[in-house]
Amino acid sequence: MIITKFEAKSFRNLKDVEFIPDKGINVIYGENGQGKTNIIEAIWLFTGFKSFRTRKNSEMIPYNEEKYEISMDYFSENREQNITLSSDISKQETFKNGVKMVSPRSIIGEFFSVVFSPSHLNLIKGGPDEKRRFLDIAISQLKPSYARMLSDYVRSLKQRNALLKSFNNTSYEYDMLDCWDETIANLGGKITAERIKYTDELTKSAIEIYDGISNGREILEIKYNQVGREDKKEEKEIILSLSDVLKKSRENDIKNKFTSKGPHRDDFDVILNSKNIKNFGSQGQQRSAALSLKLAEASLIKQINDEQPVALLDDVMSELDTGRQDYILNKLKDWQVFISCCEPTQVLRMQSGKSFHVENGKII
Ligand SMILES: Nc1ncnc2c1ncn2[C@@H]1O[C@H](COP(=O)(O)OP(=O)(O)O)[C@@H](O)[C@H]1O
Ligand SMILES: [Mg+2]
Repeated sequence: MIITKFEAKSFRNLKDVEFIPDKGINVIYGENGQGKTNIIEAIWLFTGFKSFRTRKNSEMIPYNEEKYEISMDYFSENREQNITLSSDISKQETFKNGVKMVSPRSIIGEFFSVVFSPSHLNLIKGGPDEKRRFLDIAISQLKPSYARMLSDYVRSLKQRNALLKSFNNTSYEYDMLDCWDETIANLGGKITAERIKYTDELTKSAIEIYDGISNGREILEIKYNQVGREDKKEEKEIILSLSDVLKKSRENDIKNKFTSKGPHRDDFDVILNSKNIKNFGSQGQQRSAALSLKLAEASLIKQINDEQPVALLDDVMSELDTGRQDYILNKLKDWQVFISCCEPTQVLRMQSGKSFHVENGKII
């Protein structure tokens, strides 16, 4: 997947920005607050029309304006295509090759990218919520059916929790609980199985990438953690074990008015040389591991869709030593990469590619 032209008519502080990227490395540099991350964010939006920085779509509308509009030409499935996204305060619109799509988010699956920003260090250091979110977004990109399953699960969980909140010990309510437990065990088991499969695949790619970045022999592993449940691998077994746990924790759940076990409470650990990197890894190791995870995510997209996703790396350079920076600048050869950074000196060490200087929402 190659972006051949990017255009932001208006987006946050970007105004009439237009550029033709290199098909390899693109460095976007400039001082703080000039619009570098805004460009990365705008490109990422084409992936699924959801920002990685904010949940509020309206935040991206330029101050004192009514809408934002961004557009890109890209090469995919062996032909040039175009996506245009626009949004005002109340509605989002998506156009593919000039035709308006039925729903703005039907864009999912058209353009692939992965984004890595300093906040992704939370993949290593953060809590389970953020880690699950990473898995869920990544798997949904590969399998739209997973996204549907997940939203069914979340809906069922809400219903079960609502029931627990107003529980009066009637037999009717117990029957209802049986119903929800069955649905939740079924969907939850499938979701868990997908996540385990994904983390296993992710490990395979991440090991290779980590090796390249760190130039070392450390062994990286990502281990899915079925919190409060037995460590099962097969979907059927997972469903049974979840069903069992739901039964066992039922009395407690009624007391606490909350479903305490299930994939909505799960986690994963990143292990380096058999030790949890969260507690034992150095800063550099943690950063490199987080970046490896994101790049491994990209390789899995490639394996399945046969399209190399675009890599968007926001502000990662300053956090890596020179050897690791050089790997990013010069070894990610088959990828189109956009890197934002403050230091133009890094640009000098690029062996190929283009650089763009951003100042006050413009490319100069
Ligand atoms: N909705 C918006 N409208 C106009 N400007 C915005 C909007 N949101 C953020 N900005 C401005 O964008 C700038 C930050 O851009 P950003 O890309 O994050 O900077 P950096 O170059 O450091 O990555 C700030 O000056 C901020 O005021
Ligand atoms: Mg920034």
